[in-house]
Amino acid sequence: MVSLIALLLACVPLAVNAQSSLSQLIGTWSSGSMKVQTGSGFANPANTSFIYPATSGISYSFAVANANGEAWYEIARFRFTSNGSDPKCITAVMNWVHGTYALQSNGSIVLTPNGDGYQQIQDPCAAQSNFVQNYNDTELLVAGWYTYNDPQLGLALQLFQFDGSPLAPQYQVSSTPNMLPTQQLRNVTAPTTVLSRRGNGAAQAHGILGDWTLTSTAVTIVFAVVASVL
Ligand SMILES: *[C@@H]1O[C@H](CO)[C@@H](O)[C@H](O)[C@H]1NC(C)=O
Ligand SMILES: *[C@@H]1O[C@H](CO)[C@@H](O)[C@H](O)[C@H]1NC(C)=O
Ligand SMILES: *[C@@H]1O[C@H](CO)[C@@H](O)[C@H](O)[C@H]1NC(C)=O
Ligand SMILES: *[C@@H]1O[C@H](CO)[C@@H](O)[C@H](O)[C@H]1NC(C)=O
Ligand SMILES: *[C@@H]1O[C@H](CO)[C@@H](O)[C@H](O)[C@H]1NC(C)=O
Repeated sequence: MVSLIALLLACVPLAVNAQSSLSQLIGTWSSGSMKVQTGSGFANPANTSFIYPATSGISYSFAVANANGEAWYEIARFRFTSNGSDPKCITAVMNWVHGTYALQSNGSIVLTPNGDGYQQIQDPCAAQSNFVQNYNDTELLVAGWYTYNDPQLGLALQLFQFDGSPLAPQYQVSSTPNMLPTQQLRNVTAPTTVLSRRGNGAAQAHGILGDWTLTSTAVTIVFAVVASVL
């Protein structure tokens, strides 16, 4: 009992130190095989397209506050969700968002989106199998995040979602953030634009997103699934 208390006390300064300094977050971080990274290699907001990485993962970047006092973040996510009742039905989501972050008095971080985020959802089993929609969710990273040294992969960042569940550990790609320009990168007027429907290999976009064609994303996804299983 005494040793347990001693252990807990020994951990307190570490935890306080970890939470007190936002400067530890600065840079670009990426999970797993680090193929998903924020910046110009992932999203093209001007035409709401994505460059599909070889494997799935998440990447967060945090910048120091600029002259206006805005501290920008950017998130790139490439995720798969499998369907328990039908293993063939795997949903792929490419998600990009940026905005500003702020430390709250309870140690949590609020990520406020800039309004120009978007995501592409591909679900071969859904009526709408492939579409792009706006993404402008405010997100909460609850207190308790910390950095540590991974023996193999170096400096690592552990973040926790709004419900306290841990995000995948992310490893430092760069101590200075690799981000798209920290400004409005596309004008948003319509909530959702359907790019293609089930059965269409590639289809044209309608409306404000302009005309563009999806090419071979399905093939890319198959490779990515295989790569993430391996
Ligand atoms: C979107 O814009 C980028 C950058 O100009 C370009 O490389 C890419 O081919 C475009 N994608 C589509 C689908 O138009
Ligand atoms: C899972 O697949 C079944 C059969 O295709 C479908 O009816 C159901 O809506 C899917 N569930 C989810 C959560 O996508
Ligand atoms: C995006 O979300 C932020 C924070 O809630 C809000 O201030 C902003 O108006 C939203 N932008 C759009 C285009 O919906
Ligand atoms: C901390 O503060 C934020 C912002 O005020 C709030 O949304 C959140 O529920 C609070 N609690 C935790 C555990 O983060
Ligand atoms: C958004 O629209 C305004 C007004 O038409 C234009 O000046 C601005 O360049 C546009 N921004 C982007 C990122 O396209």
